[in-house]
Amino acid sequence: MCGITACVGDDDVVETVLAGLENLEYRGYDSAGIATLDGDGVSVLKRGGRIGDLSAEAADRGIAGRIGIGHTRWSTHGAPTRENAHPHTDCAGGVAVAHNGIIENHADLRAELSAAGHEFDSETDTEVVPHLIEEALATGDSPEEAFRRAADRLEGSYAVAALIAGHEGVLATRRGSPLVLGVDEEGGRRFLASDVPSFLEFTSRVVYIEDGDVVRIGPDGHEIATADGRPADRDAETVSWSPEDAERDGYDHYMLKEINEQPAALERAIRGRIADDGSVDLADFPSGSFADVSEVHFLACGTSYHAAVYARQLLRDRGVPAHAFSGGEYATTPPPVDEETLVVAVTQSGETADTLASLRSAGRRGARTLAVTNVVGSTAAREADDALFIRAGPEIGVAATKTFSSQVAVLVLLTELLAADVTGSPSDDRDAVLEALGRLPSAVGTVLSESGARLLARRYVDGDDGRFFIGRGVGYPVALEGALKFKEITYEHAEGFAAGELKHGPLALVTPNTPVLAVFTGRHDGKTLNNVQEVRSRGAPVIGVAGEGSDHVANGVDEFLPVPDVHPDLAGVLANVQLQLVSYHVADMLDRSIDKPRNLAKSVTVE
Ligand code: G6P
Repeated sequence: MCGITACVGDDDVVETVLAGLENLEYRGYDSAGIATLDGDGVSVLKRGGRIGDLSAEAADRGIAGRIGIGHTRWSTHGAPTRENAHPHTDCAGGVAVAHNGIIENHADLRAELSAAGHEFDSETDTEVVPHLIEEALATGDSPEEAFRRAADRLEGSYAVAALIAGHEGVLATRRGSPLVLGVDEEGGRRFLASDVPSFLEFTSRVVYIEDGDVVRIGPDGHEIATADGRPADRDAETVSWSPEDAERDGYDHYMLKEINEQPAALERAIRGRIADDGSVDLADFPSGSFADVSEVHFLACGTSYHAAVYARQLLRDRGVPAHAFSGGEYATTPPPVDEETLVVAVTQSGETADTLASLRSAGRRGARTLAVTNVVGSTAAREADDALFIRAGPEIGVAATKTFSSQVAVLVLLTELLAADVTGSPSDDRDAVLEALGRLPSAVGTVLSESGARLLARRYVDGDDGRFFIGRGVGYPVALEGALKFKEITYEHAEGFAAGELKHGPLALVTPNTPVLAVFTGRHDGKTLNNVQEVRSRGAPVIGVAGEGSDHVANGVDEFLPVPDVHPDLAGVLANVQLQLVSYHVADMLDRSIDKPRNLAKSVTVE
């Protein structure tokens, strides 16, 4: 994982590179560094800890330069120490490299380079790159030839940016890891970054770099060449996200801001996608687009996996064979697919390596592929046969919130389209579900303005034996998501279960100190209430999240968190907002690092 950034401009770029890094800090935040071209030499400043510490040290030391690269790290190879922080340099200190991804043949390369006399300072896979460049330069290669020759030796996934002493610019390439180019014609600046928000405050003109491209940014602009060295003409696109979208806007945390943005994000997700006659209108997918599909496989990780399970439940209810797979497992033990299998990668970033590996495996084996993602131009969007965008806007908090709601909304639309195409007629619930979907943004707004989650969090901030989250049907993925959110940001133990599963084992762990959060959707509530009784009779307090009219639930639980009554297929989205708020407030009371939880990163671009 990690984030890389680079800038070349007419004036000093150190502050710009550091700002670009701050904007990427969600990708990793255990150590950071920058390198600048300073006259003819390369200067590097790096350290463990957050970017704020790096910025303070850069200011103290008066680091300057018109050409710079930066890196924020999420450790894979080696602890988060100064030595392992990027940029890494060669023996002579004339080459500095920032890398995102994993170089799988690094051990062989390191052995070869060590035998040739190169000395290594870190435990990282990355450090082979500057030494490979140094080796090529020593044979008389130009900086660009040396960079290209070094990149040709790398196996694995990577985006790499390099400074080479004496070369007026930054050289970069990618294979499997993201890299975008920002073009600020007016300001005379060029940017490179792992993700658009890095430079969004400076420009919204973006060129998506293709796998194998070698790009150079310099004082005179940029050039891109394909893997085989031919000049590549890649158009700049204007991204619709505004810089304000990526700011905290007075909220204490991005996560809270993003929770509160859900009504607007949902509006965007569904806008123009429900036709006047009540059918689904996904422009690129007219009715009949999926008539050849016989089975749907969802692939996803983390929160996106829970959105995928949600969609799987809905499709099965509508008579369409559907499965949800962990992105990390699908490629390892691939199920059979054929051209009638629709494989849907659900991925906010479109860059999750596990999901991409599975998507590629399915595509290679002949399945039809579709990416459901938030990021236009992401690898998933470009590699899948088709893409469907959730339009949630940038999400900065590492714990996904608004993107889950938007994923579910878009997947609800997709499931209705699929159900109609695959079974030959719209689902019985279609009209009611789409009508309820149109009202979902305001229902989420009601949850946000009336939620009692904060008071409840105060009462249940202690749960010595952990917390359990349970649910049935679409309440099941919401229980999984509730528990994931809780553990991600509170660092307290939490597990999500299908409500009926508790009695098959986990019940052994239930004590009066195990608050149980039960999700009710209006379907199968009686059975879930039975499961609630099973834990209450072991002394566990139960918090029920259900429609406000569900008196039977309100009477059967210890605490009641109501949500507006909506169609059961969408009730899970509202319950999830309550659970997001519970986790947020508990984490806040425990004074956790909410936007950047320990050990995590938003976009995991390693398998
Ligand atoms: C990481 C993040 C999770 C996220 C998952 C999938 O693990 O920490 O919050 O849900 O990746 O990310 P994606 O971008 O594929 O949705």
